[in-house]
Parts: sequence; C-alpha cells; structure tokens
Amino acid sequence: MGALSIRKVRKSYAGVEILKGIDIDIEQGEFLILVGPSGCGKSTLLSMIAGLDEITSGDVFIADRRVNDLSPKDRDIAMVFQSYALYPSMTVRENISFGLEIRKMPKAERDAAVDRVAQILQIEHLLDRRPSQLSGGQRQRVAMGRAIARNPALFLFDEPLSNLDAKLRVEMRTEIKLLHKRLGTTIVYVTHDQIEAMTLGDKIAVMKAGEVQQFGTPSDIYRNPANLFVAGFMGSPSMNFIKAKVCESGSGLGLEMESGGERFAFPAVNGEGLAAWKGREVIVGIRPEQITEVVDSHGDDPRVVRQSLPIVLSEPTGPDTLLLVHINGAKVTCRVCPDFAGVPGEKMALMFDLSKVVYFDPSTEQRIK
Ligand SMILES: Nc1ncnc2c1ncn2[C@@H]1O[C@H](COP(=O)(O)OP(=O)(O)O)[C@@H](O)[C@H]1O
Ligand SMILES: [Mg+2]
Repeated sequence: MGALSIRKVRKSYAGVEILKGIDIDIEQGEFLILVGPSGCGKSTLLSMIAGLDEITSGDVFIADRRVNDLSPKDRDIAMVFQSYALYPSMTVRENISFGLEIRKMPKAERDAAVDRVAQILQIEHLLDRRPSQLSGGQRQRVAMGRAIARNPALFLFDEPLSNLDAKLRVEMRTEIKLLHKRLGTTIVYVTHDQIEAMTLGDKIAVMKAGEVQQFGTPSDIYRNPANLFVAGFMGSPSMNFIKAKVCESGSGLGLEMESGGERFAFPAVNGEGLAAWKGREVIVGIRPEQITEVVDSHGDDPRVVRQSLPIVLSEPTGPDTLLLVHINGAKVTCRVCPDFAGVPGEKMALMFDLSKVVYFDPSTEQRIK
C-alpha cells in the first residue's frame, strides 16, 4: 500500500447515496486530482479522507494506517480550502504559528517552522501584517503556509484557487506545482477546473455522480478517455463528437461524413473495434487541435486527410483561431493558426489528423476499442 488508499468508500446522507464505491490508490509524493462537475462528490470524498464526516462503508488508509476511526487531528493531514479562514486579529506569523502552538510545539521550534515556510512561500516581508492588509493571493499563500508548517503526511486542498481572479489563479497554480516539487509531500487536490487538473496532477480521478469514471495519468486520460463523459470533460475547447455511419471505404472501413451538402468518407483510423459496427452509427471523437490548416510536415501519413469545408464562424483567441464547421449536423471546432484562418461563408482546406481519433458507442457512451 502507498500514501493513500481509498477502498470501496460509500457515503449516504439520509438514504441518498453520494459516493457509490470509490477505489483510489496513490504512492508517496504523488499529486492526486479529484476533478468533476459541481455536486459530483469531490468535497464529500475529501471530507472522508480528512475525517470531517463519517464514512458509510469502506476504508481509508493514510500511510498504510487505517484511519476510519481516527479524528482529523490524529490523521497527520493539513487542509487548505477555498475560503482560507485566517484569524483576522492575528498577524501572519501568529496565523501560521497557531496550529503548532495548539499541538504544543515549543516556541523556538515554532519560530523556526514559521521562518522556514515564510521563506519557501516568499512571505517573509508579510509576517507582521494582519490578513486585512493582504491581497487575495497573499492570503491564500498564508493559508498554504499554515498547512505546510505542520509538515503533514498528506495535504488536502479543496478548490484553493477558485476565489482568485484568472491571472492570479494561473500564477498560484504554478507556485503550487513548484511547491509540490520542492516538498515532495503527497497531495489530494479537488478542482472542477480541468486545466488545473491536467497541469497539476500526477494522477487524476475524473468523477461524475459519486463515481470515478476514470483514474490515470493526465496524458492517459486526455489521449485515452474511457467514455464520452471523460472525453468531453477534459480538454478546452472540448473534443468534437460527430455521429457517423461506419461504411466500407477503399480497402478498409470508413466513416460517412457530410458538410454543406457534400459527402465524403474518413478512413476509420484506430478503428479495430469498428468491424461489428458496419452499417451502424458510432460517435467519432476528434479534438480541435487535430483539425488545422493544411501543413506539409505530415508527408503522406495515411492517417492525415484533407477536406475543404465551409466555415461557419471564426473566433480569434490570440494564439489560435477557432473555426466552426458543421459535419453531419454537429458543430465542430477546428484550431488553426490565425494567419491562415478562413473567412466565414467561404470554404477552407482543412487537415484532419486522425491518428488520435476515438470512437464511442452512442447508447452506452463507452469507448469502442
Ligand atoms: N451534509 C450533507 N447532507 C446532505 N447532502 C449533502 C451533504 N453534503 C453534501 N451533500 C450532497 O452531496 C453531493 C455532493 O456534494 P459535494 O461533495 O459538495 O460535491 P462537489 O464538491 O463535487 O461539488 C451534492 O448533491 C450535495 O448536495
Ligand atoms: Mg466541492
């Protein structure tokens, strides 16, 4: 067993099952992300790990120790929440020191711990201020300092950046990642933001309605989604989903496509699982970055196809331009270089890199492999 094991954990409130059997294992030093839409049970699962609320059934182990019956203070954890709840009448130094004091750490050791975290978080110049004299980002940093000072076996973060504005959120995200590299402590981090999940996690558990839909590394989850929900949730802009009929095409299988009245077929790349689907519709998943302007670098890779399509809408984001086209009635987003973006109402030659295309069963929404 490793740093944290969650075994068959269930939680019900008044007969309503909120967590429906969660199994997760991570190793010492790993950064685990719990991600999913609001209400899927992320905070509930974190409370089970923290011991803030009782588990209905199942077990939680922290550093190989079963903690079901231990109170939060005996679990060797530290938490940082969205609302950082600093004590307004205490200075930053006192805020960080307080948790150590109630654990009866001698003053000299406490002072040394505060100085150590202040240096790590670069808040040495703020130690004598009160929370009201700090910016949102500085307060968040103090809240983290309070957690780090304890030197716990496990950090628990619940959406710690969601109260910050967009720019600061990105900065703090980088800082948390650096901090994790530096401290090497195991972290469980809850977020509804899939970009935070991708950038921070060593492992990600994608949750929906009290269940883990997929557990894996960020690249595994991005490239190899288990089902339609995970595929659509991870990635921004979202993966495109096109319903298409599986047909014979050349020497193999293809997928029937139509746009602006023109019919064409894509080769069924990665379509080993599609043989049983001939004549029936599947959902084709292709990410926006795999539909671009035509570039020459692909040579004659048969997995890369070209198709001219009418552009419906153009959305410049700065680094890229997102073009909207319609295929089989679905809205499809393409990600092109702004210098080569086509004009709405006109056709543009697009390149489809199908090497990472995935397929889903329309009724079960599971991957067809
Ligand atoms: N103390 C509680 N009593 C009853 N229902 C609760 C309680 N806490 C959470 N829930 C319900 O559990 C579900 C999951 O909540 P939560 O874990 O906070 O979701 P998330 O953090 O993913 O947004 C929600 O439907 C919520 O209403
Ligand atoms: Mg929550």
